[in-house]
Amino acid sequence: MDDWRRSLCPCPSGTFASGHFSFMLILMMVILTPSKHLDAYLVTGGNATAVQGETVILPCKLSDTNEALTQISWQRRTRGKPQNDNFFTILSNGGPHFVNGHDDRFTFIGNLDEKNGSLKLASVKLWDEGLYSCIFTLFPTGNYRTEIPLNLLVPPVIQVEDKLPVLGDEEVLLATCTADGSRPPAKVTWLKNTLEGKVRETTRSIQHDNGTTTTISSLLGVPTREINQHSVQCVVTSPALPEEEKKTFIVQVYFSPTEVNIIVGSEDSFQCLTEANPTAEITWTRSGQSLPQSQVRVDGSTLQLLSKSSALNGLYKCEATNRYGTRHGYIYVHLISGNCTACWTLFGLLLSLNVIGATVWYLIKNRTNEGTREGRQKVRTTSNESEMAVAEQPT
Ligand SMILES: *[C@@H]1O[C@H](CO)[C@@H](O)[C@H](O)[C@H]1NC(C)=O
Ligand SMILES: *[C@@H]1O[C@H](CO)[C@@H](O)[C@H](O)[C@H]1NC(C)=O
Repeated sequence: MDDWRRSLCPCPSGTFASGHFSFMLILMMVILTPSKHLDAYLVTGGNATAVQGETVILPCKLSDTNEALTQISWQRRTRGKPQNDNFFTILSNGGPHFVNGHDDRFTFIGNLDEKNGSLKLASVKLWDEGLYSCIFTLFPTGNYRTEIPLNLLVPPVIQVEDKLPVLGDEEVLLATCTADGSRPPAKVTWLKNTLEGKVRETTRSIQHDNGTTTTISSLLGVPTREINQHSVQCVVTSPALPEEEKKTFIVQVYFSPTEVNIIVGSEDSFQCLTEANPTAEITWTRSGQSLPQSQVRVDGSTLQLLSKSSALNGLYKCEATNRYGTRHGYIYVHLISGNCTACWTLFGLLLSLNVIGATVWYLIKNRTNEGTREGRQKVRTTSNESEMAVAEQPT
């Protein structure tokens, strides 16, 4: 009796307890529904919310009754089946069965004796979202029903995309962060960290017919060296996600190789250095001649001379290339005899003076244009044993 009283009387139970009130109410009921206890049994359902792919319970119970329960049936009006669809019946004498086609994802988890009609739905999909009706058929008073709304949450697919900005001085799109197909719409923002004030974001969203929304946040900024390699994070929040999701992104500004420097290492090695993004590929060649394979070793950006033979003499070129451009550096190697220590010193000095481009290129030009004698002598005055020169030449 408790349940129907509550369902009919909005007044506090204290007031209700008074005999006077009870009498009035029963009298009213008798007047309004003289022949049937219609609505006298309360069917309790619920409001179900599920994340796509998970399992959800559609709860349904009938309050105590002494009448005979002949069947429980389920109807639905969903995104996938917008027409009212009778899909599941549990008969007192025949057990549960599907009405319009089988769907393994539904399982009856109730109990006829307990007047429990609950269903379990596994791998819930967006098209399952809608209104489910649970109907108890009693003898002799007929049908009692309740409606259970099923709400779907769809977690977004999150992706950060590098928009490959090339070094420049005007604002461009650096990256986008997309939360695809979220229900309800996801919130997408950027944590700018060290780039606060140097980059900005704009957000837009696209609503899909199936009730999901795609939200795209764009990160914009001037593609300078200063912002290169700084880390930012895209933060996505959605009720469909167990917790906010953060995707770290390293801002990349792309540029062709900058000036090429050749550094002399110990052990007669030359390292070709340049700055580039993405990292430049280095190739060593010798002008007009092939590299003497057995007497040099190329290891990444380093060229190493394995002997001091005059067969190694020549103009060596280091080429630095990435998809945005190419730069060259040159070194002239001239070995006269055995041991050479002082000559590397000459080389290092030229490098640190940062006049390599001019000075040394002349040496090479002199050598080529005016014959070798004069040029060679010039250098010999600095180093008695051998000579070498470096030049950088822009492409
Ligand atoms: C059910 O829950 C959803 C989400 O929590 C809410 O938006 C909706 O209004 C509720 N519906 C009812 C009938 O309570
Ligand atoms: C909803 O529609 C969008 C766009 O057509 C699609 O990309 C997405 O996969 C759909 N989502 C679901 C859960 O069906």
